[in-house]
Amino acid sequence: MTNNVTIVNHPLCEHNLSVIRDKDINSDGFKNSMKRLATILILEATKNLPLKEYSVTTPIKTCRANKISDEYKIIFAPILRAGLAISEAAAEIVPDASIQHVGMYRDETTLEPVWYYDKTPVHYSDPEHIKVFILDPMLATGNSAHAAISLFLKKGILMENLVFVSILSAPEGINLLTKDFPDLKIITAKIDERLNERGYIVPGLGDAGDRLFNTFEK
Ligand code: URA
Repeated sequence: MTNNVTIVNHPLCEHNLSVIRDKDINSDGFKNSMKRLATILILEATKNLPLKEYSVTTPIKTCRANKISDEYKIIFAPILRAGLAISEAAAEIVPDASIQHVGMYRDETTLEPVWYYDKTPVHYSDPEHIKVFILDPMLATGNSAHAAISLFLKKGILMENLVFVSILSAPEGINLLTKDFPDLKIITAKIDERLNERGYIVPGLGDAGDRLFNTFEK
């Protein structure tokens, strides 16, 4: 594994992972713990955002302070549907970011992604000054992640400005991305054992989208 893969070790990650793995947690509990995990991961993913020093006047005196530099535009790109769990948390802590949804569903036979939505512009006017955080709670086969990363690279986003954020990952997905994009930064809370024959992460948590939006058949 390359140095570009960060597994965020934190007791609150472990705690919330144990909640979302539990098949008996209702969708409200699932959603809340996903959001808490997302917040921790986004803090890690954004920790190197450049700052700009400026002058601020408090009720007591004027001092120097730092704010996020406007040299870069920040984009969160949730892969629909499950990526919404991360983008909601991300938008709360980085409210000025642009949220650009990308939609893919997984063909259950081939496990290949099928595009159905792309809210990125046809052309970015200054792609070298954009930081993109691609969000999908489940990095499983890596096929959707691969398609989303390729989309942004094709539009001129620099690899050094791309971060992929997942809550749970499978070794298969990590291996695909690190093989094809060795310089890509990946932030995740855990790498599980493997994928099963249907492409689900083992032990994983089941279908994240269904559990978030309560759409699974019991
Ligand atoms: N997507 C999910 O929601 N769960 C998995 O285990 C794999 C992909």
